[in-house]
Amino acid sequence: MASGGPGPPGGEGRALGAGRPLALERQVGVWDTVLLEPLTEQAFIANLHQRYKHDQIYTYIGQVLISVNPYKKLALYTSEVIRAYRACSRFELPPHVYAVAEEAYRAVREQNCDQCVVISGESGSGKTEASKLIMQYVAAVSGRAKEVNAIKSQLLQSNPVLEAFGNAKTHRNDNSSRFGKYMDLEFDFKGDPIGGLITNYLLEKSRVTAQQPGERNFHIFYQLLTGADIQLLKSLKLQRNVENYEILKQGRPLQYDSLDDKRDFQVTRRAMDILGLTVDEQQGILRVIASVLKLGNVTFSPVNNIDGSEGCVVDNEYDLQDVCELLHAEPAALQAPLTTRCLEPRAEAVLVELSAAEAAGARDALARALYSRLFAWIIVRINETIKPKKHAKRKVLGVLDIYGFEVFEHNGFEQLVINFCNEKLQQIFIQLVLKEEQEEYVREGIEWTPVEYFNNAVICDLIEKNNHGILSLLDDECLKLGQGSDESFLSRMDQSCAGHPHYVAVADNSSPAHCFRLKHYAGDVTYEVAGFVKKNTDSLSRDLSMVMYRCDLPLVKTLFPEGNPKRATLRRTTTASTQFKISISALMKSLASKRPHYVRCIKPNDTKVANEFGSELVRHQVLYLNLLENVRIKRAGFAYRQTYEAFLARYKMLSLHTWPAWCGLAAEGVTYLLRDLPISMTEYAFGRTKLFIRSPETVFELEEFRRERLHELATLIQKSWRGWRQHRLFEAMRKSQIIIASNWRTWKAKEELRVMKQRRRTEWAARLVQRAYRCWKRRRFLLRLAHHLPSESPLSRDWPRAPPLCHQTSALLYKLYHKWRCHKYRMRFDQTSRNRMREKVTSSIIFKGRKASYAKSIGHPFLGDYVRLRQNSHWKKMSADTNDQYVVFADIINKIARSSGKFVPVLFVLSTSSMLILDQRTMQIKYRIPAPEIYRISLSPFLDDIAVFHVRALSPSRDVPVEEPNLPGCLLGGEAGSKHRKGDLVFQTGHVIEIVTKLFLVIQNATGKPPDINIDTEFEANFGQSDVVFSFKASGHPDTPPGQIRIIRRANKMEVIL
Ligand SMILES: Nc1ncnc2c1ncn2[C@@H]1O[C@H](COP(=O)(O)OP(=O)(O)OP(=O)(O)O)[C@@H](O)[C@H]1O
Ligand SMILES: [Mg+2]
Repeated sequence: MASGGPGPPGGEGRALGAGRPLALERQVGVWDTVLLEPLTEQAFIANLHQRYKHDQIYTYIGQVLISVNPYKKLALYTSEVIRAYRACSRFELPPHVYAVAEEAYRAVREQNCDQCVVISGESGSGKTEASKLIMQYVAAVSGRAKEVNAIKSQLLQSNPVLEAFGNAKTHRNDNSSRFGKYMDLEFDFKGDPIGGLITNYLLEKSRVTAQQPGERNFHIFYQLLTGADIQLLKSLKLQRNVENYEILKQGRPLQYDSLDDKRDFQVTRRAMDILGLTVDEQQGILRVIASVLKLGNVTFSPVNNIDGSEGCVVDNEYDLQDVCELLHAEPAALQAPLTTRCLEPRAEAVLVELSAAEAAGARDALARALYSRLFAWIIVRINETIKPKKHAKRKVLGVLDIYGFEVFEHNGFEQLVINFCNEKLQQIFIQLVLKEEQEEYVREGIEWTPVEYFNNAVICDLIEKNNHGILSLLDDECLKLGQGSDESFLSRMDQSCAGHPHYVAVADNSSPAHCFRLKHYAGDVTYEVAGFVKKNTDSLSRDLSMVMYRCDLPLVKTLFPEGNPKRATLRRTTTASTQFKISISALMKSLASKRPHYVRCIKPNDTKVANEFGSELVRHQVLYLNLLENVRIKRAGFAYRQTYEAFLARYKMLSLHTWPAWCGLAAEGVTYLLRDLPISMTEYAFGRTKLFIRSPETVFELEEFRRERLHELATLIQKSWRGWRQHRLFEAMRKSQIIIASNWRTWKAKEELRVMKQRRRTEWAARLVQRAYRCWKRRRFLLRLAHHLPSESPLSRDWPRAPPLCHQTSALLYKLYHKWRCHKYRMRFDQTSRNRMREKVTSSIIFKGRKASYAKSIGHPFLGDYVRLRQNSHWKKMSADTNDQYVVFADIINKIARSSGKFVPVLFVLSTSSMLILDQRTMQIKYRIPAPEIYRISLSPFLDDIAVFHVRALSPSRDVPVEEPNLPGCLLGGEAGSKHRKGDLVFQTGHVIEIVTKLFLVIQNATGKPPDINIDTEFEANFGQSDVVFSFKASGHPDTPPGQIRIIRRANKMEVIL
């Protein structure tokens, strides 16, 4: 056994990642037979066998997948496994059909190039299953949008319909595809399926009317009879029993799996619904199937005509009528065309009766035509549904599931065609995988030792070559207009192909007569020529075509367009083999235009049972499939090749030399690129136009590098784009912000202006209101004041309360009013009152704020004459002498002795001209001092009631009493008439304010100039010879009782203590 490589060394593989499905964990044998050591046929088959025993049915030869049919359900197809193959690369996981599907799908999606998966192998080797698994995988991993899911569902649902109509049970396979199918899955640029196209190749229509023992007709007949409900059967004029139908009975004895058929019928109906077949269309399809069943039951009996010719009659006309009814034709419409034939090429149409055998042949031909055309129509109809709706650029993944190589006991025309198809597929495999690969190495100048293999081109030539090929000879035979026969075809073949290494003319007794043998690449097959010409021509009589065209069932009309009388033509239809050749060559062309992936299916046994590995059978397949040669070429060759331009285009991003663009020669660019990558030089070789890479792992590695780099580049693009987008967003936001800000500022300014205007208006209004209010208030106050003026008495203090804003006015008005009422009051005064007033005002002027005792005097009326001196007769007499009759003041007051400070009560009189001091008892004048002599009056600011009258030194005008006594305290002393100064007089009296005021006025009146009023705490007084300083002290002396005064004489100082 080999070791190492992408698979597990010695078969035990690289440890699979945690979480891998269990089915993928157990590794057996070698994954890739390229790594098999030694490479022998035996070791190759043993490896397959070993793996098969452990349910490892898949093995690689490089990129080619070998699949051995397990004939049992394996846990290999779960969604978990799909996910694993989706996530990992081909070389990380064991071989699997999903890995092939993934590679093809990834190439479609990422490399944008068309792919195809060619599935080949014998009948029953598992091709159809593999193709379904590939479709299932692609459906599972592609997009999940609603319409994508709908398309996927339609693509998948085409399988049950095609299998119902195109598959049948054969000896080799219970679900054998009796037609070739090539399906294109079409994808959009994202890799989402957008539709598909099915091409079918040569349905084995002979099966409709004849099956080999042990085989069945197409599934749909059994499905319909067992699965349809009774109403449906009735409407189709059918009975449930399969045995009632001739075309289903031929393969007997046969076990019908009615349960599966019943269930499959539901599946087929559901699939038809999903594929969009309308109820009418489905009804039409079932009617055609029913009519084929019924037609098969129509039998003919020979009759001898009068002219001796052989004719026939229909035995069971009811069945034929049922067929007509089912197809919506005239009840007897089919009778004539089935029993007679019109020979048209003659000048006049001649009606020839058919023998019973010929009529049966016409019946079978009609049944086969109905069925095969219905099958073709269904495919066209499905294609209509799955056709891509978008016309965008698309990529294709083709899956080819064509019938496998067949060798039966009796092999006819169909087997030749089928095996020819397989030869062609083998040829394209050889072309692409074996031959071309080797030729390419030589062409590109790569060192190479050629590997020998069998090239089946020679067999293909034998069958298809123009002029001498078997199919050409057959066509020639068919051209002989009724003269051609199978025997003459055989003899021509025997002549023309004699000596061909792959053609054997059979003439021995061991084989049935009229046979020929072909040595196919897959083995020898003996073909019986009986029926070859007929099947190749396969013409339906024109009468039958016309009857079918005239049917009212629209579907049948569509199936037989040549029955349209307007399109009547005598042109020969192309033979079946020519049609097949054309379609196969188109298929080969289509495959050659795509990158192929191969699945080579191997059938392990002929008994269709699980766990049986027939080494001989497998060896045979390994040999004819050239698998060993395939391995040898793979081992010697290179896994991957690509033109330098394409390689550079794909991987240029991996080197700074080639990214983003390489301007020089592509080969040079590739050299730089590979030099920059950690890839061993033995891993690649430079051809003339292409680069060759030895192992798939290197390609995988390159792909990984590319993926990572693309990721980086995508991130870079994303980053730049995001940056650009954010910048644009920012710019937009900035612009918006500027617009918003400017608008906002405008709005704000307007708003401020509005607020300001409003405020101004409000303020103006407020001021207006305020002004009006104030006016109103003032007005109201003034009016109220005017109407309710307070008392006119100057003593009244009543005054209405004024509002705050009229306080000042009110005060002024009050003053004004008061002045006015005082004036008014004064106006009412007589002379006396006026004088008194004058005195009071003068007193106020002199003392207000200067003398403490002033306040006490205000309310006291200045009576003046307290001793009623004016009425005194003595005084009257006396005063007339001195002109002192007008007494201004008279009272007994204290004269203060200047030497002792003692109080001496005296009668003090003030007349309008002088001041007089009289003895209170005798009324003798002690002093008379004319008013002008007194120049100053001094007082203290206190409450002491003492006043000092400063008298001038005597003047000649002074009027003094003659007999003036020398009394202490007198102003004038000495001899009478002497002119010595006596000094100032000091008095104490409760009327000191009144006396000083009146004296002040008297002096002013007398002299026109008022005396000085000196109010101080210290002042000087003249006591005759000396000056004495009077000092007043308000602080209480302990010897002085409160409210009284003490006068102390100390030398030249008289202290008055209060
Ligand atoms: N991978 C598989 N797992 C399980 N069973 C399988 C698998 N492949 C094939 N089979 C079984 O083998 C049978 C035959 O397979 P399939 O119909 O795919 O063969 P085929 O190659 O298409 O034959 P034909 O050429 O006759 O159409 C299937 O019906 C199925 O039972
Ligand atoms: Mg098949």
